[in-house]
Amino acid sequence: MATLQFGKGIILKKSNNTINNSNNNCNNNCNNCNNNGKSTKENNSQNIIEIKNVSFYYNETEGLPAVDNVSLNIKRGEFLAVLGHNGSGKSTLAKLLNGLLVPDSGEVLVNGLSTKDESQSINIKKTVGMVFQNPDNQIIASIVEEDVAFGPENLGFTPKESRERVESALKAVNMWEFRNKAPHKLSGGQKQRVAIAGVLAMQPECIVFDESTAMLDPKGRKEVMDTLLNLNKNNNITIILITHFMEEAARAKKIAVMNNGKISAAGTPKNIFSDYKLITDTGLALPQPTELLHTLKEKGINVDVSAVNTTDCIEVLSKLLLKEKEA
Ligand SMILES: Nc1ncnc2c1ncn2[C@@H]1O[C@H](COP(=O)(O)OP(=O)(O)OP(=O)(O)O)[C@@H](O)[C@H]1O
Ligand SMILES: [Mg+2]
Repeated sequence: MATLQFGKGIILKKSNNTINNSNNNCNNNCNNCNNNGKSTKENNSQNIIEIKNVSFYYNETEGLPAVDNVSLNIKRGEFLAVLGHNGSGKSTLAKLLNGLLVPDSGEVLVNGLSTKDESQSINIKKTVGMVFQNPDNQIIASIVEEDVAFGPENLGFTPKESRERVESALKAVNMWEFRNKAPHKLSGGQKQRVAIAGVLAMQPECIVFDESTAMLDPKGRKEVMDTLLNLNKNNNITIILITHFMEEAARAKKIAVMNNGKISAAGTPKNIFSDYKLITDTGLALPQPTELLHTLKEKGINVDVSAVNTTDCIEVLSKLLLKEKEA
């Protein structure tokens, strides 16, 4: 089997097997099934990913681990944001989630399958897709639909199945009307949505986005964020979003904060952003609405600082103004 790595964070092994995916069972005696002969998609455990005491060293003989004894469960259908200052280990953790990196100690289980098990490597990479920062590094074909078809074609799907997957993926990111366009003529946000479609066409259950909005303008960032929220809500895809934008993290269901290779806190956006000490100790910022409320509190105004988005902040301020008026 020839190994093929391409700019979508996926390593595929070319084989002549055609995967019959019609009922999530595989007819071939291949690597797409676990030991019980069941597709991972039939694993009903609540956790899609379990990170158990995982450490990873880029250089085992010197220096500190980039990821240091991390344990975390990621629930099916979760929308998890990962925050942390530069070099805190976020990208390393991301790559450990689909076997692009393998733990030096501990274990990462994807649908119960260890990333250390080479025989499950393709299966795991199909289950957990990755989207990186620069869309230009992830798009390889000169026509949008050809680019999106690259993954399914290399997974051995028939041309008809590939076409269906391409159509459904491009529609899911609202890029179907651009299917015949050249990617280099698209905006940054549109290109990143094509990159997401390329991963979606492989029908992953979970997608890890490593700063995938970092190179985009505010409009492109919003397009991509809205796409992620839709995929999570409408397609039940588990989303792991690594970001430096606090407003994006505030839209997640859960946040994990990384510091020096460890997870220093995990909780809802409200829990995390109301912990001012945690935010300052880990060198993070607050979402703008939360920052405004903290500033009012510092000025002696008795205000609830737990709002993490504009709508909730407006509600807090309206209540405050109403109280002032009545007093
Ligand atoms: N390929 C590599 N070789 C050696 N050390 C590395 C490599 N990649 C990352 N590191 C080191 O591992 C640690 C964690 O890096 P990582 O890229 O995971 O952090 P990060 O939180 O993603 O940072 P950023 O916010 O800048 O993207 C850092 O000390 C970094 O210098
Ligand atoms: Mg990084």
